[in-house]
Amino acid sequence: MQLNSLYALIADDMKVVDGVIRDRLYSDVVLVRQVAEYIIGAGGKRMRPALVLLTAGATGYRGSHHHELAAVVEFIHTATLLHDDVVDESDLRRGRDTANALFGNAASVLVGDFLYSRAFQMMVGVGSMRIMEVLADATNVIAEGEVLQLMNCNNADVDVDAYLRVIRYKTAKLFEAAARLGGILGQSTPEMEEGLARYGMHLGTAFQLVDDVLDYSGVEGETGKHVGDDLAEGKPTLPLIHVMQHGSPEQAALVRQAIEQGGLDELPAILAAIQATGALEETRRRAEAEAATAKAAINALPPSQYKDSLLELADFAVTRRH
Ligand code: IPE
Ligand code: IPE
Ligand code: MG
Ligand code: MG
Repeated sequence: MQLNSLYALIADDMKVVDGVIRDRLYSDVVLVRQVAEYIIGAGGKRMRPALVLLTAGATGYRGSHHHELAAVVEFIHTATLLHDDVVDESDLRRGRDTANALFGNAASVLVGDFLYSRAFQMMVGVGSMRIMEVLADATNVIAEGEVLQLMNCNNADVDVDAYLRVIRYKTAKLFEAAARLGGILGQSTPEMEEGLARYGMHLGTAFQLVDDVLDYSGVEGETGKHVGDDLAEGKPTLPLIHVMQHGSPEQAALVRQAIEQGGLDELPAILAAIQATGALEETRRRAEAEAATAKAAINALPPSQYKDSLLELADFAVTRRH
């Protein structure tokens, strides 16, 4: 499934959001503009803004705050990417050199701060305490997730529950917030809002599980990121945890050592162990289960094309190659 056809319903809204993003990126500090325009200009899938628009549509929202809020979540997302690439020492993103590779770590961190704070200026403009609460909480949890992950790096004893907590915090929380915003804008019942939030949370979890699969099996021309970044950082993601739990003692020892030391020296042997133990298939199965739970969570949403697109987005999160 192509993202373009999935977004057909919201194509006009997405154009408006692009305009908001362009306008709100403005700063009279040249380096802020350069770095921010560099990473935003590289595109990206824009899934989080799409979620705001689709959930707002699905709840019958008729105002215009959804455009501003879609831009807000994309700014928060972009700020996390700028910071994440510094922390992960990544040098490829969206098929280009990362901002940290091009402009340096300091510029990336500081412009990430600019985007976070610009996002907060914009949400104050929307004037809803409830919406500010949702986005402030999400931003805070994302930061906790990245710190938790930092603590887990090079730790081969991280178990599935600890791993799932990290991905819920660092990734699923923003999907959850984006989907909840649609519910709030459309003045859904509390039950419906919770359903949308659960949909976003499970969708985001599926999305990150697949990201962790693609980190071992993706095609760089499609993902726009380097394969092996997670291993290089000694990140105990589910594919590796699976090998340690289900592989031979030799395979488990190989992975344990690679996590503890980081680096890509053992990538070919690790890939062979991943292949032999079905680790990527198992991770995908979990992603499929999360996507199914996401879909079930919006059962009560009245039928609409927006709802159909939300259901398709859950499939896309699992089948995606980029
Ligand atoms: C990358 O998110 C960070 C993760 C949560 C895995 P996306 O894959 O949505 O990044 P872009 O915006 O499409 O580049
Ligand atoms: C991204 O996690 C999560 C956030 C940006 C908060 P990853 O480190 O797996 O994302 P990529 O692979 O760099 O996009
Ligand atoms: Mg990263
Ligand atoms: Mg990744």
